[in-house]
Amino acid sequence: MKINIVNLRGRPLAYVDHGTGIPWLFVHGFPLSHRMWLPVIQQISHRCRCIAPDLRGFGQSATTAGKVTMAEFADDLAELLEELGIRQPAVICGLSMGGYIAFEFWFRHKERVAGLVLCDTRAASDNPEVVRTRQATAQRVLEEGPGFLAETMLPRLLAPQTFQQQPEIAQQLREQILEANPESAAAATLGMAERRDMRPLLGQITCPSLVLVGSQDVISPPSEMRDIVEAIPQAQWVEIADAGHLAPLEKPEPAADAFLNFLNRLPPAATHELTGLG
Ligand code: MLT
Repeated sequence: MKINIVNLRGRPLAYVDHGTGIPWLFVHGFPLSHRMWLPVIQQISHRCRCIAPDLRGFGQSATTAGKVTMAEFADDLAELLEELGIRQPAVICGLSMGGYIAFEFWFRHKERVAGLVLCDTRAASDNPEVVRTRQATAQRVLEEGPGFLAETMLPRLLAPQTFQQQPEIAQQLREQILEANPESAAAATLGMAERRDMRPLLGQITCPSLVLVGSQDVISPPSEMRDIVEAIPQAQWVEIADAGHLAPLEKPEPAADAFLNFLNRLPPAATHELTGLG
């Protein structure tokens, strides 16, 4: 799929824009890129316009440094939709860190959200111990590069069945992690450590929502994601068998089925044009 580049106030941002229909924004996890969504995009792009950016600092987007908050990532995405001339609310679909960003996008840009799809993510913020671990990780990635991230993260990202039956996925993820820019990975890590606790706000999410999790996810396990679906009014639940933390990449067929079902549930009003936006 063709990679496009848009300039967001001087910062080049790479993205894929494929298919037709209601816009669907795919937000990748840490420290990956839009590539994790390609198998699922291939299966749903006949029904929606799939827009999958490389977040600031990742993939082919310009690198960054310091700290990037979830709010800054979310505002980049709103700006991307604006730059693309998209006047219609979009489905915002994020996985893990992408889910933190999707929550923040909903919080800051509700008028742009036709539906929220939360994959293998968390609503809680980090406790002080996790914050300290993130700070140490950020420091280490700056000093050593992303090699240790591949060693520590990879075994926890995929279900055992995925390692056995689709070793090419593990290989592709390893490459993506090793290609991550150290300054950008540190900046996102520090931003994640500061993210807001979404739990008190979940009851206010009244747009159509889908919560999707891999049955073998050990990072954001089904038990934790159950609390999210129960707190969001009328959210739909899908658990993907034999998948881990990257369920839509490990099992694109059932994930695509869940996404297509979700599209069918969106009210026709979701296709109205936005008004009054600058
Ligand atoms: C991710 O997959 O994006 C990360 O596991 C998120 C995190 O470190 O909290």
